[in-house]
Amino acid sequence: MKRRNVLLGLGGAVALGGIGAVLSRPKDNGAPYNDYFAALNAELKANGPMRPSLVIDLDALDHNIDTVVASVAKEPGRHFRVVEKSLPSPKLLEYIGKRANTKRLMSFHQPFLNHDAVMFPESDILIGKPLPVRSAELFYKTHQGPFDPARQLQWLSDTPAHAAQYLALAKGLGTTLNLNIELDVGLHRGGVADMVALTEILQLIEDNPEQLRFAGFMGYDPFVALVPSFLGSHDALLGKVMAKYQAAVDHTRSQHAKLWRDDLTLNTAGSPTYKLHEAESLSNDISVGTGLLKPNHYDLTTLADHKPAAYIATPVLKATGAVNIPGLDDKSKVFSWWDVNQRETYFIYGGYWMADYESPKGLQVNNTFGRSSNQEIVNASVAAGLKVDDQVFLRPQQVEGVLLQFGDLIAVRGGKIVDTWPVFS
Ligand SMILES: Cc1ncc(COP(=O)(O)O)c(C=O)c1O
Repeated sequence: MKRRNVLLGLGGAVALGGIGAVLSRPKDNGAPYNDYFAALNAELKANGPMRPSLVIDLDALDHNIDTVVASVAKEPGRHFRVVEKSLPSPKLLEYIGKRANTKRLMSFHQPFLNHDAVMFPESDILIGKPLPVRSAELFYKTHQGPFDPARQLQWLSDTPAHAAQYLALAKGLGTTLNLNIELDVGLHRGGVADMVALTEILQLIEDNPEQLRFAGFMGYDPFVALVPSFLGSHDALLGKVMAKYQAAVDHTRSQHAKLWRDDLTLNTAGSPTYKLHEAESLSNDISVGTGLLKPNHYDLTTLADHKPAAYIATPVLKATGAVNIPGLDDKSKVFSWWDVNQRETYFIYGGYWMADYESPKGLQVNNTFGRSSNQEIVNASVAAGLKVDDQVFLRPQQVEGVLLQFGDLIAVRGGKIVDTWPVFS
């Protein structure tokens, strides 16, 4: 090829590349607050703490509670058990318990369990994981008040060895422990997976009636709603879960008839699957926690009727204009020139949470500058309309850990702050 043709070819490639680059240039994602967040921003600026806060929207929470209650009520004799670790604030739990008219809690953590026993002396508590026996022992050592563990608390066990440790604890304490047995219904996170292990645990209970009392089963099945659909439809996967559950029930009724009672707790579900259980009638105890606040990793079809009810709100401390990266200094203006969503730079109070920007629209992290838990950089287009002292709203990805990071929760109703609720410590 002649030199002139090579140059022409290169020129054409550059021109095409230029057009392609212009076409893929980021579009403006920015938009100001909608009415909901505009009202919340005004309220928090006037009456909020002007630091990172966790806001609970009671209107959305009420809607979610009522949605779960209506679903659980479809099966006569079925109860709603509130998952305490996902809603780790005694006042939040109290609010939910009152509206849902349930005293049932599922607890996963000994210090929270001791709090529950004091705060909710009437509650019925099922432990959600097989806690080390020393943890159970510590519960009894620190337990005070009228809550009666022998009547109101079910420990969870999933191996004969673990159950034997609890038997020794009961002997040492001179008390009776209620044992619920975790079933592996397909999650494969422990749980009894075969009838041999199940019989061993049941036999241990049967042989030690003074120390151990069979309390029922727990079979947790979130994967039914979370695994890719090519692995099975919700119906098909739930069918397999319930077949395993039924087999454990049938085995117990036939082989350990002495242990069977009609008031056993047959617990199942979790937020992703609770609604699917309307299709079966074996279980009588349905756990839900996270779905009442609906963080964004629970934007699932099975929770389509739920509304987001928890947001992080934090004030803008500084507005510094175009992107300005240390060391690159003026040269970093190229970022703002290229990407309209990087025309404005803000530094917020706190940051780097397990959460995603929600409002105003089009806020983005800047990984070139770097992340910070103290004063995080946020970029946006002019269209987002943010100013110093305005609030940036984020939606948590999950709630069980995030809720514990902000001090008292701020409860709002109709866009107004109505209460503040301490979290578990
Ligand atoms: C045993 C058990 N049941 C139920 C749940 C459901 O909790 P959530 O509704 O908060 O997802 C969990 C969550 O980890 C769990 O471990």
